[in-house]
Amino acid sequence: MNANPFAVVTGASTGIGFELAKCCAHDGYDLLICADEPEIEQAAEALRDETVAVETLMADLGTREGTAALCEAIADRPVDALLANAGRGLGDAFLDEDLDKAVDVIDLNVVSTIALIHDVGRQMRARGSGKILITGSVAGFMPGSFQAVYNGTKAFLDSFSWALRNELKERGVTVTCLMPGPTETEFFNRAGMQDTKIGSSDDKDDPAKVARQGYEAMEEGVSGVTVGFMNKVQTTFAGIIPDSVLAEMHRRMAEPQ
Ligand SMILES: NC(=O)c1ccc[n+]([C@@H]2O[C@H](COP(=O)([O-])OP(=O)(O)OC[C@H]3O[C@@H](n4cnc5c(N)ncnc54)[C@H](OP(=O)(O)O)[C@@H]3O)[C@@H](O)[C@H]2O)c1
Repeated sequence: MNANPFAVVTGASTGIGFELAKCCAHDGYDLLICADEPEIEQAAEALRDETVAVETLMADLGTREGTAALCEAIADRPVDALLANAGRGLGDAFLDEDLDKAVDVIDLNVVSTIALIHDVGRQMRARGSGKILITGSVAGFMPGSFQAVYNGTKAFLDSFSWALRNELKERGVTVTCLMPGPTETEFFNRAGMQDTKIGSSDDKDDPAKVARQGYEAMEEGVSGVTVGFMNKVQTTFAGIIPDSVLAEMHRRMAEPQ
């Protein structure tokens, strides 16, 4: 019988999610990792060793069917850690964005994340144990001019994380929010933001460092972690600086040049 704890990581093929999965594997979690593209198999190859089992699921979590397929793959196995990380951005002025793509961002970042947590969170609550890590963002603290929908989804997740944590506080289940700042991953490329100041900046955080801090926060069961001094300053002062000023600051980072 396998005695390893079991973790599920979404968006684990690249970037922060891959690094989160690495942390889990390093600490002896068996894994079910999910992403939309075949590269998830390469990620699994890199994570597997003789001590941990790594299972993959290729599914579009931006759809109800994809999220249901992940819940079916988990089946009745007790999940010790759920790392709900899959997400994508979308740059440009809102009115110039393709509406379907904007809605896809909401479906993936918000709808799928809460559907998955609803399913797995219930089994954790019934068992009286489990850890949930949600990848939110410092973007959730700022109105995101030229990335308006994305920042809205992250504001939702940051808030949702604290609320769910409170609801589960006496049920043996912890909820932790990882709030990265700009991190060197495929994210900006995929969001079509290479022609922005933030997208082309080479001063982004290392995804391995971001993931390590998020993973440790989840393991310790703390409420949330913001990685990097400037990002901590940003989230601290976000409640004091007027939203109009924050929106203007975001314009300077995210407006296509
Ligand atoms: N990079 C940053 O600056 C930054 C800052 C704050 C927060 N975040 C958040 O961190 C999380 C991870 O992003 P990242 O920066 O690591 O970017 P990334 O390298 O682009 O990774 C995104 C992951 O999500 C998966 N994914 C995307 N769409 C999917 C879909 N429809 N169904 C299933 N999986 C899907 C991707 O897999 P496929 O390639 O198979 O689609 C990939 O594994 C996201 O929630 C993002 O919002 C990132």
